[in-house]
Amino acid sequence: MKTNNVLGTAVVTGASSGLGKVFAERLAKRGYDLKLVARRADKLNELAEVLRAKYGVTVTNYTADLSNTTDLEKIAADIQDDPNIIFLINNAGTSTLAPVSQTSVAKQKEMIDVNITSLVLLSNAVLPGFIKRNEGTLINIGSVLGAYTLPISSVYSGTKGFVVQYTRGLQEEVKGTNIKVQLVNPSITATEIWEVGGVPLSALDQAAIMTTEDCVDAALAGLDAGELVTFPSVHNQQLIDVYEDARIKLFTGSQTGKPAERYLQN
Ligand SMILES: NC(=O)c1ccc[n+]([C@@H]2O[C@H](COP(=O)([O-])OP(=O)(O)OC[C@H]3O[C@@H](n4cnc5c(N)ncnc54)[C@H](OP(=O)(O)O)[C@@H]3O)[C@@H](O)[C@H]2O)c1
Repeated sequence: MKTNNVLGTAVVTGASSGLGKVFAERLAKRGYDLKLVARRADKLNELAEVLRAKYGVTVTNYTADLSNTTDLEKIAADIQDDPNIIFLINNAGTSTLAPVSQTSVAKQKEMIDVNITSLVLLSNAVLPGFIKRNEGTLINIGSVLGAYTLPISSVYSGTKGFVVQYTRGLQEEVKGTNIKVQLVNPSITATEIWEVGGVPLSALDQAAIMTTEDCVDAALAGLDAGELVTFPSVHNQQLIDVYEDARIKLFTGSQTGKPAERYLQN
């Protein structure tokens, strides 16, 4: 159970680099104990040592490949059994940016396994406890590519589109409770994922690249403000409002039971 001075335990996946590393640091600073997940044990150990020394929090590392069913199920079981967990950030993600015809099935499956399957199973692992205690925070990291597809992002955008709709569904499920579910949709951020994906950051518009610190701090400011969906790099709030309004109107406008006139032959 939680002690008086510790807020509880936060799980951060993909904490060995990029956004996850900064999320872990920011949550340690806020007073959460941490469970960190990634494949690179050396990076996790390095980070854990720094966070223990700087913030006096307890940090437990899980060296795991989230695309591996055995690893994933082990972590999910551990999380499910830990009543101290009150925060999960499903941040781990991977991308291969290339046309589908030039992307191996293994790489496509890896994106689906890490970006979708692990996110769903780890959400499943925390939600019953959150619901039972009527408390908890879940942040899912989507992407602006969850709403837009490039000719090199069919599978990656597909996985992030899933994250968007899945997270919105969870938000509807926990409406009226004390459980917070936030969807964060970053745009280009300076992390290793670009190199991993085959598009170096140097090939991108440098003015469009955000730092990891700016992205995470904006995401957490959005969370603190009670936002359900946070687009850290979108300055014009009206764009978000119009998009949200159109999404709802399109759905409502589809509930007619009849083909639209433009599809009638005579
Ligand atoms: N950077 C951007 O421009 C951008 C934009 C929109 C959304 N995002 C999203 O932001 C999230 C964080 O990515 P990032 O940009 O910070 O990239 P990153 O620096 O490459 O971090 C990805 C993290 O995920 C972990 N990971 C990848 N595959 C894994 C696996 N099979 N098992 C366990 N952990 C795995 C990596 O750790 P190991 O390699 O040690 O396993 C790493 O810690 C992702 O969901 C990404 O899709 C990023």
